[in-house]
Amino acid sequence: GGSESGQKEGGAEDKGAGGKLVIGFSQVGAESEWRTANTESVKKAITDAGHELKFSDAQQKQENQIKAIRSFIAQKVDAIVFSPVVETGFETVLKEAKDAGIPVFLADRAVDIEDDSLWVTFLGSDFIEEGRKAANWLVEEMGDEEEVNIVELQGTVGSAPAIDRKEGFEEVLADHPNFKITKSQTGDFTRAKGKEVMEAFLKSDGDNIDVLYSHNDDMAIGAIQAIEEYGLKPGEDIKIIGVDAVKGAFEAMAAGKMNVTVECNPLFGPQLVELIEKHIAGEELEKRIAVEESIYTMDQAEELLPTRQY
Ligand code: AHR
Repeated sequence: GGSESGQKEGGAEDKGAGGKLVIGFSQVGAESEWRTANTESVKKAITDAGHELKFSDAQQKQENQIKAIRSFIAQKVDAIVFSPVVETGFETVLKEAKDAGIPVFLADRAVDIEDDSLWVTFLGSDFIEEGRKAANWLVEEMGDEEEVNIVELQGTVGSAPAIDRKEGFEEVLADHPNFKITKSQTGDFTRAKGKEVMEAFLKSDGDNIDVLYSHNDDMAIGAIQAIEEYGLKPGEDIKIIGVDAVKGAFEAMAAGKMNVTVECNPLFGPQLVELIEKHIAGEELEKRIAVEESIYTMDQAEELLPTRQY
């Protein structure tokens, strides 16, 4: 082993083509169906390729991720896969990784840091575009109505998908003043929180909600429960928009309780491992690699449900 570029990287010495790598993976948590599928995909791709995996679940806490990355650095791993729970506050620890010569691969979520030499590449979805897709569907569906009141369940505060899905959605609706977001609160991307916050929305505004825009399907599924318990029909009395396209959303759509879900594909493990291997082999990578995604409606749910992988 030991190519010249490998030696420059420090941690990558003796990793010739096809060599076994030690890869640390700092994951966000286990907050959603999407996340579980993503964890599986990345873990499996790493071990299937014959590499060694060190895994850490941060339980949606930034301080746990900082600790995990420091521990990966101390263990001199060959590469770090990092899915940041929030966008800011990781500069110091990423600098430590860089100084130790350990390449960092951002997976799924981005960081908001000026110095882009602190990571090799960012592989993930275009969350702003997902927000736009959700709003475009809504404008097509209800554009003719005089007034449409929307409540919004946001993802984890400060996370890239929460910030971007809000931004993309609002960007499109800015041209359509008949749509109004009347309430917006975080449900932390979980079913339990989604249900709880929807209960509060219904309590204060019950008869005045036309649409729920939920930043992920899990919160939408929790909210559907709240709506049923309140005595309204989800999918009819209140239109439901989710993001992710997990199986649970297809089941809800097939049952007529959810109207649409914007796809966010978590199954990028194999693509990610390929990128790590290419980098270690000295190949130049694009700074930003997007995942291809679609959008699915209620009428397609029954047919597509058996083919869904997550
Ligand atoms: O970062 C991706 C988002 O995180 C998913 O849309 C959501 O379900 C997950 O928790």
